[in-house]
Amino acid sequence: MMLTEFAQSVNEGLSKKKKHLPSRYFYNAEGDKLFQQIMQMPEYYPTRCEFSIFEKQKDQILKAINHPQGFDLVELGAGDGYKTKILLKHFLAQKVDFAYYPVDISADVLRELKADLKDQFPQLPVKTLHYEYFTAIQEMNNLGQRPKVILFLGGNIGNFTAQRARSFFRRLEAIMKPGDQLLCGIDLKKNPRTILKAYDDAQGITARFNLNVLKRINEELGGHFDLDQFQHYPNYNPVNGECRSYLISKQAQAVKVDYLDKTFQFDAAEPIHTEISKKYSLREIEALAKKAGFRAQKHFTDAKDYFVDSLWLKE
Ligand code: TRP
Repeated sequence: MMLTEFAQSVNEGLSKKKKHLPSRYFYNAEGDKLFQQIMQMPEYYPTRCEFSIFEKQKDQILKAINHPQGFDLVELGAGDGYKTKILLKHFLAQKVDFAYYPVDISADVLRELKADLKDQFPQLPVKTLHYEYFTAIQEMNNLGQRPKVILFLGGNIGNFTAQRARSFFRRLEAIMKPGDQLLCGIDLKKNPRTILKAYDDAQGITARFNLNVLKRINEELGGHFDLDQFQHYPNYNPVNGECRSYLISKQAQAVKVDYLDKTFQFDAAEPIHTEISKKYSLREIEALAKKAGFRAQKHFTDAKDYFVDSLWLKE
């Protein structure tokens, strides 16, 4: 039997000595909904910070764009467009000639976004792209000939390790043309307790979100995970800036996954690593931009300096 990509990832990840499940599998219909709820949690500051950066500095952002007369706006990991719509609305009001290309791995999310944009901004040309980041990057130059402004918001970059972030930006830089720009949302290093709380909300929505990946294995791969036997556990390391989320097996247990025809053994307190959300300092961001061949042009931060939207130029 041909295994799906999901089945293969689960098989590989749970067979490792240090168990791992890739975070991209959080985002099925239920995961999308839970993440929407996380963004509403008082502890989860990144979305609100980026929202306020856009609200307050949308005009400075537009002025800092190299080609305000016309460009293609490509957004990697567009989600529900909640924050991006502030920019879209402002650009349209300023009579900027641009088209919007939202990229996302969730087809559901893209369908809703498209309908929503059609409703709110009927004059805006929108083409949704159901791709992973790297496929999207490869396809980028087939989209159109205008200069590109690429949005990579919400701290999505944080989901890469430092090494993968570097190679991601290098690949992106290699495909961009001189004069193209990248606006990258990055969560900043701050009080470790503030960060930790954002990944451990009191209402337990984040816990449900993390556990949802096991639920998905049950539903799609005939898994037999008892969700009550795993616990959400986040951990922040202020040295490397990594906030990691784990699912901890509450006791020694064996869990069968029917479609893989395989049983996975868990020790008591054994972790499954599910997510990295890395935080950076402004200094580290500038170094990262430079290493990938960009020039960091401008940092747009919120009032508390919790979050930055950093504008990089390919020269
Ligand atoms: N990756 C996103 C972030 O770093 C989404 C997220 C929020 C998340 N809370 C989480 C992922 C908890 C896994 C576990 O902000």
